[in-house]
Amino acid sequence: MSRKILVTAALPYANGGIHLGHMLEHVQTDIWVRFQKSRGHECWFVCADDTHGAPIMLSAEKEGISPEQLIARVYDEHTRDFADFHIAFDNFHTTHSDETRHYSESIYRALRTADLIAVRAIEQYYDPIKQMFLPDRFIKGECPKCGAKDQYGDSCEVCGAAYTPTDLKNAYSAVSGAKPELRVSDHYFFKLSDPRCQAFLKQWTREAGRLQAEASNKMQEWLGEGDDNKLSDWDISRDAPYFGFQIPDAPGKYFYVWLDAPIGYMGSFKNLCDKRGLDFDEYWKKDSATELYHFIGKDILYFHALFWPATLEYAGFRTPTKVFDHGFLTVDGAKMSKSRGTFITAESYIATGLNPEWLRYYFAAKLNGSMEDIDLNLEDFAQRVNSDLIGKYVNIASRAAGFITKRFGGQLLHSHYIDRFRTDLPGIVEAAEEIAGYYEARDTARAVRKIMALADQINQYVDKHQPWQLAKNHEHEELLHYVCTVLINAFRLLTIYLKPVLPKLAQRAEEFLNIAPLHWADVGHLLPPAHLINTYEHLMQRIDPKQIEALIAANRQSLEAVAEVAHAVAPASTTATPPVASPIASANPSGAAGGEIAPQITVDDFSKIDLRIARISDAKHVVGADKLIQLTLDIGNGETRNVFAGIKSAYDPAQLVDRLTVMVANLAPRKMKFGLSEGMVLAASDSAGNTSGLYLLSPDSGATPGMRVK
Ligand code: MSP
Ligand code: ZN
Repeated sequence: MSRKILVTAALPYANGGIHLGHMLEHVQTDIWVRFQKSRGHECWFVCADDTHGAPIMLSAEKEGISPEQLIARVYDEHTRDFADFHIAFDNFHTTHSDETRHYSESIYRALRTADLIAVRAIEQYYDPIKQMFLPDRFIKGECPKCGAKDQYGDSCEVCGAAYTPTDLKNAYSAVSGAKPELRVSDHYFFKLSDPRCQAFLKQWTREAGRLQAEASNKMQEWLGEGDDNKLSDWDISRDAPYFGFQIPDAPGKYFYVWLDAPIGYMGSFKNLCDKRGLDFDEYWKKDSATELYHFIGKDILYFHALFWPATLEYAGFRTPTKVFDHGFLTVDGAKMSKSRGTFITAESYIATGLNPEWLRYYFAAKLNGSMEDIDLNLEDFAQRVNSDLIGKYVNIASRAAGFITKRFGGQLLHSHYIDRFRTDLPGIVEAAEEIAGYYEARDTARAVRKIMALADQINQYVDKHQPWQLAKNHEHEELLHYVCTVLINAFRLLTIYLKPVLPKLAQRAEEFLNIAPLHWADVGHLLPPAHLINTYEHLMQRIDPKQIEALIAANRQSLEAVAEVAHAVAPASTTATPPVASPIASANPSGAAGGEIAPQITVDDFSKIDLRIARISDAKHVVGADKLIQLTLDIGNGETRNVFAGIKSAYDPAQLVDRLTVMVANLAPRKMKFGLSEGMVLAASDSAGNTSGLYLLSPDSGATPGMRVK
């Protein structure tokens, strides 16, 4: 029976690039969706960029562009990266859309009518310089537990303590540096403490199949037992300035990004419905007969298993059929790390020339439907892909195809070999339902193991019959033709099984086999007698370990980068001056953070330095340099400067383009290994040698390229 299924992957934030952690989720979702489609079900896969919130507003401001411009650029980057990895969304939308606004407002109104919205005044940190309330992540200070400096407002990265921003000692605003003040303001709350919500969620989270066992247990912990009412109300409003949707009838109040983000699933689907003439209500009405699945990471379970079902329930919509939670991606056994080069962006993976299907296969081989973390072990990655995909699967086609082409004019055997196929290679056709069961359960690891066991069996069949020996003797002509025909058919069956994981490779295999696109039901028959196949061309390259080294190098952002660059590229003309020797000049805000204050200079000394506002009109990686970014600086009047800046440890070129900064415009040009550097850009950092961060200067908005800085 054909099912109607709606599938989502979590909406990536629009203030950063896609990395392999995101890709793990999208590959998992995409495989599941492709499998469902292959089985003949109606299955829609929607996603969107998650575009609202203070961080996006502040990033845009920092770059000197509007939030709309920022999210438009990121939208292009995200859709490019997903397409590169063959993620086949039916729709990829944005939460900054009319559809999402519409459902956010109507859901809010419905909750208000159900008496589930409360307004209460709360006290919160306010930045008096920036004139905004600060999100927890933008308040920093000393950890109340261990005293570590520069910790965020919600938790300490040193000792792991969790607290609220008001617990921090010597708190300061990470936006302006100002000392925040406590101010009172009205906030809107979703009354999750209401007994109706608690009772509903206790039941919903326990219903069979809604959540994985591990997730369901966690929810019971959060919800408490029996009549406990452990949930508190959820703050769904933020004060202006904020980038998001205004709350109806509440001037100056915006929906908190997590209120409208999951509603973005509906927004994206509505947008698809309008394009395709689908019935939105059929999928979202209460008691809908369709299925709804959310693929998410374990860090956002709380939102999807508590807030979201409660929101839907009391706004009169259906709730998710199941929430599928996956673990986090680690690389070589550890959290992805910029300094180790294992915080790998999707863009760099493709730019290094690695095949996205290698990664899809490796992820599939590791994902088992549980919430365990998934490790990308780079050595194992290369070995596994080479031995499974090339050594086992592709090998079957390459071993048989040459004979069919050269000896039999590309034609498979005439006679009926179908019955004998089943006895010669027992279990290959019969495995279909077992493998389908693994895909359905998201246990792609078992699916892949089973498929590779079949490939082993087929390769043993090759070794047993040794077609290259048969080919030596004309008497065995027919047997050779038979064996190769069996192998081509076996290869076709494996292609059906692997297609959800390897869609492009399957497409090339279909071209080679000279057949229409394969679906799961095609397992039920073999290729027709005397079918003509095309000449075999190699289907997939092996991974060269050098490519993996290049990938890590491209992502490595050494902590010592700045210090080393300072040493390596000191402009010759500055030998007699204080140690402002790198293509980035380090600001020393205080003796403590930036080292000793340099010897005194006069105003005249200072005025020799011509500082200008510059727009970074282009930023590129420098081949062979792991610390430098090549900048093209527009300093007004059509004048540009080429500068090599040692800021790769802290910035991605894509992030820099179009932002304003400050440069030393009259520094003697310096010839470097990579070309001529015509100045420096200014950045703040710790005292050299212990550079944990690097912060390019930006002017306040309004400054334009060429203005002098004094
Ligand atoms: N914008 C929210 C989701 C809103 S959904 C209505 C968000 N965005 S995110 O960009 O931070 O993360 C998107 C998804 O990627 C989440 O499901 C998150 O768990 C997942 N991952 C982010 N880093 C990851 C790994 N290192 N490993 C696996 N998944 C990871 O959260
Ligand atoms: Zn601490």
